[in-house]
Amino acid sequence: MDTLMRHFKQGDWIFHEGDEGECAYIVEHGSVAIVLERADGHITLATYGEGTLFGEMAIIDQKPRSAGAIALKDCSLRAITRAQLNHRLERADPILKICIQVILKHLRKTLSQIHSPEPTKVSSHVAHLNETHHVLDSKDQHLTQVVNPIVDVVQPTEQAVQSMAETIGQAMSEANPLMATDVFSEAIKTLHLEQELQVALTERQLKLYYQPIVRLSDGLIVGFEALMRWIHPEKGMISPAVFIPIAERSGQIVEMTYWALREASSQLKQFQNVQKGYWGTQYAPLFMSVNFSGRDFLDGRFLDEIQHALQSQDLPPKSLKLEITESMLMLSPEEVQRVLGICQSYGASVAIDDFGTGYSSLSYLQSMPADTLKIDQSFVRTLHKNDRHLALVESILHLAGRLGMLTVAEGVETAEDVDTLRNLGCDLAQGYYYARPMPTEQVLAWMEKQTEKFPKI
Ligand code: C2E
Ligand code: CMP
Ligand code: CA
Ligand code: CA
Repeated sequence: MDTLMRHFKQGDWIFHEGDEGECAYIVEHGSVAIVLERADGHITLATYGEGTLFGEMAIIDQKPRSAGAIALKDCSLRAITRAQLNHRLERADPILKICIQVILKHLRKTLSQIHSPEPTKVSSHVAHLNETHHVLDSKDQHLTQVVNPIVDVVQPTEQAVQSMAETIGQAMSEANPLMATDVFSEAIKTLHLEQELQVALTERQLKLYYQPIVRLSDGLIVGFEALMRWIHPEKGMISPAVFIPIAERSGQIVEMTYWALREASSQLKQFQNVQKGYWGTQYAPLFMSVNFSGRDFLDGRFLDEIQHALQSQDLPPKSLKLEITESMLMLSPEEVQRVLGICQSYGASVAIDDFGTGYSSLSYLQSMPADTLKIDQSFVRTLHKNDRHLALVESILHLAGRLGMLTVAEGVETAEDVDTLRNLGCDLAQGYYYARPMPTEQVLAWMEKQTEKFPKI
């Protein structure tokens, strides 16, 4: 159920001026009027139609509603929560934050000075707004309303008021088309998806798929990477490439990571038991790679969660592998380095993901507590077409060898890739050539099939 859709009948108040604000709204259907409620009538400041946002001021400056809002037609409004706006504000440029506060302060001051216009003071422009609850469509009129109190204070000439209104009017008309742009509709889609993701988390729509990682020399299974999938009830499967960046921006990723960590480690225990059942203890216990984002490392519960995952499943040392991309490592290298060092001391293994794409200096490698290096699939994909990539992969493998790191080639799709990488001395491989990411039941079937090549004991 979409709990953030709110429905109002024509004439309903959505909120009143002075109310405490609990969310902003996007008009999905219908239209609303923004009104100042004055003793001798209502003044309409604006009308908002589909695709527009209102009620944001009280959420941003945490003050009471600056005006009331009433449904002009039956309306469906999407609520944008305080949390959704707050986390964006928290990360905004501090100067921009101050500018927003100043603008809001000015606007609130101006609004508070608007009284029901007295015909003797107002310009001819405003005179006909004096009627109670007169709905305006024109931007000009709403602007003149806002400008009018300034007229009262400074008493400029009629001409000056006109030119002020024109200047602001021009600025508004330049800003307004923004609402119709792709950027705006993309932003709204993101807010919507963010809300759906919250539902996904509570309604268990997230699932982990597991992709086998094998030893290149002979194709023996050595571990898995857990990859998140969102099985949306209407939209079907949504790629992590779509929802992970949204979750990273909204901060939801932290809860998602903890869920994946718990789920993947208990799943690993089951896979390790199957491995033991087939092959005894002749091979090292299977490992499980879990993906982490930069924000996870800054969360206070992070180390406890890692320790809990390792201990609650009684996982053998090094069988839980934390994957972090090279570019995430660079966000806060000292802090990440400190936290990863502690994780290793708990018995976790650490892999640098997408290696070669982070545009970073190599100097961090010698100080970073990582034992595995995953060569990004973009190099593997072009290994045979691009001599430079071949040379790069060769150098990466050499470097990793010198640093005593385990190497994994990602995106291995062909037998030719396998041959080349094996000859170059890469340790492990992951890719469609061996298996796609799969749900648990398919992984179990795939493991059973492996016993044809690696007989059961
Ligand atoms: P990644 O960590 O680099 O994961 C490897 C991606 O390559 C996966 O895409 C996998 O399905 C895909 N892949 C594997 N073998 C092949 C191959 O042979 N050919 C090709 N073309 N692709 C292959 P997927 O599952 O769509 O995930 C995309 C990205 O989303 C991941 O890239 C990772 O950055 C992120 N992601 C996925 N699950 C999680 C998660 O639980 N947490 C976080 N923070 N990120 C995740
Ligand atoms: P908020 O103060 O939360 O609630 C009332 C909303 O009306 C406010 O946020 C803005 O979205 C909107 N609003 C306030 N003043 C004006 C104005 N002068 N013109 C158009 N919209 C306004
Ligand atoms: Ca990964
Ligand atoms: Ca990768």
